[in-house]
Amino acid sequence: MKYDKKELLKEKIQHIDIKKFNSIPLIESFDNMAFQSRNLAKACKIYDTMIKDKDCTIVLCLAGSLVSGGLKKIIIDLIEHNMIDIIVSTGAIVVDQDFFEGLGFNHYRGFVNADDNQLRELMIDRIYDTFIDEGDLRVCDMTTKKIADSMNPGVYSSREFIYDMGKYLDKNGKNPESFVLEAYKNEVPIFCPAFSDSSAGFGLVFHQTEKKEHVSIDSVKDFKELTELKVKSKETGLLMIGGGVPKNFVQDTVVAADILGVDVPMHKYAVQLTVADERDGALSGSTLKEANSWGKVDSGFEQMVFGEATVTFPLLASYAHHKGSWKDRKAKRLNTLLK
Ligand SMILES: NC(=O)c1ccc[n+]([C@@H]2O[C@H](COP(=O)([O-])OP(=O)(O)OC[C@H]3O[C@@H](n4cnc5c(N)ncnc54)[C@H](O)[C@@H]3O)[C@@H](O)[C@H]2O)c1
Repeated sequence: MKYDKKELLKEKIQHIDIKKFNSIPLIESFDNMAFQSRNLAKACKIYDTMIKDKDCTIVLCLAGSLVSGGLKKIIIDLIEHNMIDIIVSTGAIVVDQDFFEGLGFNHYRGFVNADDNQLRELMIDRIYDTFIDEGDLRVCDMTTKKIADSMNPGVYSSREFIYDMGKYLDKNGKNPESFVLEAYKNEVPIFCPAFSDSSAGFGLVFHQTEKKEHVSIDSVKDFKELTELKVKSKETGLLMIGGGVPKNFVQDTVVAADILGVDVPMHKYAVQLTVADERDGALSGSTLKEANSWGKVDSGFEQMVFGEATVTFPLLASYAHHKGSWKDRKAKRLNTLLK
């Protein structure tokens, strides 16, 4: 059967709204069960405790295809309701997925058993059961080039560049539902330690090839800024979805501060929702208990939950939202500390 591109790119992925359902009764039942349901209930309680702790700066870490999977609105809600203070993410989530949607493009419902050769011919990219128009992604790449072209040549952290992406969306965006835009408006810093490994990488390669005097992204500057925020925070809590580079980058700020001769506490709270397991010895599945041996995460308020994030994240976020502890929490607007 010959595919029709318009037919394939018809049904948009709809982002789940945690305000429309209350997961508290479900999570409370999970608490009386076993295995990952009980682990998720414990993670929910730890996240609620983080929100209640007035001294705690909350860092949301993101990896995986979370926005294309329908989780964008949750991240926007967490920012809007002061339930997180800093974001550390992969570039794909920030640029290829969220900024992309802010430009007015969409992810579409697809299917797993697709004929990928035909998709390639139609310039449709597939992420498991979702489809993307490659032509739209090329516009996204070139928009990052346009932003770089408009900046003074020099060295920037990804945080500074992403701030300008938010500013761009504020002026030129076609869809106000973007966490890059929401973070810009609320002065929530977003860090992407491997920024070039995304749609922005293509735009920046083009920008640097074309311009002798150009913009460069310095991941050390990111690490320095994030460490500065750790030093300025009394306590920190980590809400990690997926794992990967963002998980280690934020955990390492404790060690970086120590190397600078500043005595900071380990991350007091840590929750990770992931499908990675610990048997391969890699970072993504390494337990938060293990991170204690490295002096990065304190023991007592740490919980791993093994499950896919499109299922676990909405339940956790809805629980914390409906608990309402965020009502007593003030926005920290940490971007303003780095200007
Ligand atoms: N995800 C994409 O579609 C995509 C596209 C272009 C570029 N990239 C780049 O590839 C690099 C790696 O990013 P990545 O997104 O593949 O993450 P990753 O491979 O670094 O993910 C880290 C861990 O998170 C876990 N994880 C991922 N999705 C999950 C989910 N839905 N539920 C539970 N756990 C989950 C994985 O098991 C993995 O162990 C980044 O630099 C990113 O910018 C990713």
